Amino acid sequence: MVQTVTIARPDDMHLHLRDGEMLKTVLPYSVRQFGRAIVMPNLKPPITSVEAARAYRERILAAVPENTSFEPLMTAYLCDATDFATIEEGFVERVFAAVKLYPAGATTHSEYGVTSIDKVAKVLDVMQDLGMPLLIHGESTDPTVDVFDREAVFIERTLMPLLERHTRLKVVLEHITTEQAANFVASDTSGRLAATITPQHLLLNRNAMFTGGMRPHYYCLPVLKRERHRLALRKVATSGSRSFFLGTDSAPHERGMKEASCGCAGIFSAPNALEAYLTVFEEENAVEKFEAFASENGRLFYGLPPNEGTITLTRQPTDAPELVQLSEGKSIQTFMGMGALPWRLVDQKSRQSY
Ligand code: DOR
Ligand code: ZN
Repeated sequence: MVQTVTIARPDDMHLHLRDGEMLKTVLPYSVRQFGRAIVMPNLKPPITSVEAARAYRERILAAVPENTSFEPLMTAYLCDATDFATIEEGFVERVFAAVKLYPAGATTHSEYGVTSIDKVAKVLDVMQDLGMPLLIHGESTDPTVDVFDREAVFIERTLMPLLERHTRLKVVLEHITTEQAANFVASDTSGRLAATITPQHLLLNRNAMFTGGMRPHYYCLPVLKRERHRLALRKVATSGSRSFFLGTDSAPHERGMKEASCGCAGIFSAPNALEAYLTVFEEENAVEKFEAFASENGRLFYGLPPNEGTITLTRQPTDAPELVQLSEGKSIQTFMGMGALPWRLVDQKSRQSY
């Protein structure tokens, strides 16, 4: 049995870092594991301008712990009114790495999102000429569509026409949750379509939200699906296909905001994301494919060089905390902390004692 696993330092290709105190609290957990992250722009107000992205990047860099390195890759929040010149300028000046498309109303802070793809067609044309990726929250917002069917319906009604209309546009279908999405991305032969997959959608099915009562800390969007879908995701994630890569969608919310009459969507997996993913790869007898998923496929899609250094995990129960403290008695619940996973990240610092 393998006792340690060492891979090139990976990247998190889908991460919510928030701002202010929350940013300072959560960022070190990602920095421990990842060399870079694609940072989501759904702040309040959203990151829609080059100046706002530059300023947010500076706040993130200021919160990176001393003697560590981390590169935040910024994204622009696409609105109906987004000017293509802003996107072009941000990309050319290496501020925006990608553009995020939230269908208006689909998820947390998506109210400024896109109401119709027609409205952003010009921006998408410019992006395809630049080779700039479009990152999509792929869920239909039609209120008559069942919440568990929203991803599949989005693929049929919105993604397929979008890909036909913009035939060279690079697209990442974010946090996929269904067999339909897994098959759709796997069947692409052009190399311009990829998908991120979260740890929770690989480890849990929708029963987890209702075991013995309502479990708000397992509520995220897209919502967990039935077992058939989880198995399909595990298959493609561990297949070695270049089209699938790591994106945690770690989305911290203060506990009171989740344990509420109308709780927020989001799972905070940053403290032990790699431990969670490695558990899946081991269960699928595919540990040798873990490095491609975590450290190569994503950076190749984005055209990035390898990170420097490596990270090591060892076979010991995770010691990630179950709660992360904020000020004034507030806290964030983490995903599968304290012993709930059989792997533990070996810190650069503690590694010296190994
Ligand atoms: O669960 C989620 N949380 N899904 C999203 O799409 C947004 C995220 C957040 O920002 O909290
Ligand atoms: Zn997200």
